[in-house]
Amino acid sequence: MPYEILEKIELGNSRTIFEMVLKTPLIAKKSYAGNFVLIRVNETGERIPLTVADYDRENGTITLVIQVVGKSTKLLCNQRVGDKILDVVGPLGNRIHIEKYEHPIAIIGGGVGIAACYPQAKELKEAGNKIITILGARSKGLLIWRDKMDSVSDELIITTNDGSEGIKGVVTDPLKEIIKKKKISLVITIGPLIMMKYVVLTTNGSGGLPKVKTFVSLNTIMIDGTGMCGSCRFSTLDGGVQFACVDGPDVDGHIVDFDNLLKRANRFLEQEKHSLEWYDEKCRALEKYNKEVD
Ligand SMILES: Cc1cc2nc3c(=O)[nH]c(=O)nc-3n(C[C@H](O)[C@H](O)[C@H](O)COP(=O)(O)OP(=O)(O)OC[C@H]3O[C@@H](n4cnc5c(N)ncnc54)[C@H](O)[C@@H]3O)c2cc1C
Ligand code: FES
Repeated sequence: MPYEILEKIELGNSRTIFEMVLKTPLIAKKSYAGNFVLIRVNETGERIPLTVADYDRENGTITLVIQVVGKSTKLLCNQRVGDKILDVVGPLGNRIHIEKYEHPIAIIGGGVGIAACYPQAKELKEAGNKIITILGARSKGLLIWRDKMDSVSDELIITTNDGSEGIKGVVTDPLKEIIKKKKISLVITIGPLIMMKYVVLTTNGSGGLPKVKTFVSLNTIMIDGTGMCGSCRFSTLDGGVQFACVDGPDVDGHIVDFDNLLKRANRFLEQEKHSLEWYDEKCRALEKYNKEVD
């Protein structure tokens, strides 16, 4: 059953991050913070996992925020309002645990991961928690969903690498100050693997800072999303193996072997490069053909 794109907007001035609203009544009905969907744009497309960044049960829609990084994200973001997506499978993955914690929760989002933080902040805030949000981006123009995150936060701190907005630096700078000064019940972080690795190193009880329970959302390469193909597996520091699609995607960051995960994330670089070059070539040929026909 194809799924219609109801809205599509570009976020920030990156030209690479888009927000899309899809008509998916059954998925919208069952989605919670932590869930993702597997999207296949057309019959020859590959399946890619994307977080359910928001859901509207009444209107039967889900919102995705997509960063163009390769062939499949480009193909998806080249679709227009009114176009239909062939497959949207979900909701997959585990819903995050919701409870009222004694102390504030620090939620740390980086890049496109900021959008994936939104449903988590929203549901934890609705459960009565105090939310301290730290958002990080390379520069102001890449900062997405700032107002939405503000609406579900008690405190909002911005960091940019170039200092164009908020504190000049990285998300771990304010995080260190916060956990030094006050008790934090839980840290949640979603963003690039390297950012989550450094957040976990900040909260693991080393360097004279207190240990704080930390959840990371693992954006591993996924194929089936149901625990069968093994593509999303990650090693744990005690020598175990888990699967991000069924054991996560949100897992205890202190058990994750990030160095191994970072290596595994690059295992298809050559194929990904060829696939994007082939798609760009096809788009150029199609554009040329359309001009000639006109
Ligand atoms: C549970 C989950 C939720 C996700 N949610 C979102 C989301 O809400 N929005 C979003 O934009 N992306 C999200 N991702 C990442 C997204 O699935 C990938 O960016 C996408 O599959 C890349 O496909 P591609 O063909 O465009 O790029 P590819 O050709 O596959 O890869 C191009 C480049 O992107 C890198 N890359 C590939 N896969 C990933 C990945 N999983 N994470 C990070 N970098 C990757 C590659 O190393 C390569 O450098 C999520 C991933 C997971 C596992
Ligand atoms: S994506 Fe196949 S096992 Fe997780």
